[in-house]
Amino acid sequence: MLWIFPDLETLSRAAAALFIRQAQRAIRRSGRFVVALAGGQTPRRTYEWLAHPACRNTVEWEAVYVFWGDERCVPLEDPRSNARMACEALLNHVPIPPDHIHPIVCEGDPAAAAVRYEAVLRRFFGEGPPRFDLVFLGLGEDGHTASLFPFHPALEERTRWVVEVEGTLPPRVTLTFPALNQARRVAFLVSGASKAEILKEVLRGPVDPRRRPAQGIRPAAGRVLWLVDRGAASRLE
Ligand code: 6PG
Repeated sequence: MLWIFPDLETLSRAAAALFIRQAQRAIRRSGRFVVALAGGQTPRRTYEWLAHPACRNTVEWEAVYVFWGDERCVPLEDPRSNARMACEALLNHVPIPPDHIHPIVCEGDPAAAAVRYEAVLRRFFGEGPPRFDLVFLGLGEDGHTASLFPFHPALEERTRWVVEVEGTLPPRVTLTFPALNQARRVAFLVSGASKAEILKEVLRGPVDPRRRPAQGIRPAAGRVLWLVDRGAASRLE
């Protein structure tokens, strides 16, 4: 499903409303809401809206559990850290129990960090699959999402939930297709004319997840939503 908004601001308010709606449904259904946050810059305004009093007080934060779809291997205080961005914009401003926040800690060896994070997920989800109630994802201009980059070996992973991504600067850790495709809802947040060409290729072009990894996000028992602004949608007929 594709929703086109006038600008990043209205897109962000809608993404915050989606988070709130999914949280209320999940907490009513199972007593908890398990979300995986996206990195990069686009989601920042969504997170800031969720921290706004008008939104903050509509979520039972004590029942929310936060993970990340990927992370750069930098210290938490590094401005490139996805966890730092989400904490600054949202998590430092809401009453979520600290032990419900699970950043991907990767300051040294990405492979060891990936193994550690998979253990965190498996401990949390128990024997079951990593059924996130909501996963926010971004879209890179090369078609990457999370840290699943075109033609990268991480795209071929079929059993591990978390893998290391070498070859990028800094190296990264990312959830894999087997993990991301267990989600109940995936919401891509895409803003700006710079994403127009890749968004058209991803949504209208031939399906080739090795070339455009975002096309590999196809939850078996879940829905994919695209929240985009007019700039990003400017190449769609
Ligand atoms: C990251 C993200 C990455 C991001 C896209 C879009 O760690 O960078 O996981 O997948 O979502 O690159 O980034 P922007 O939102 O900054 O355009």
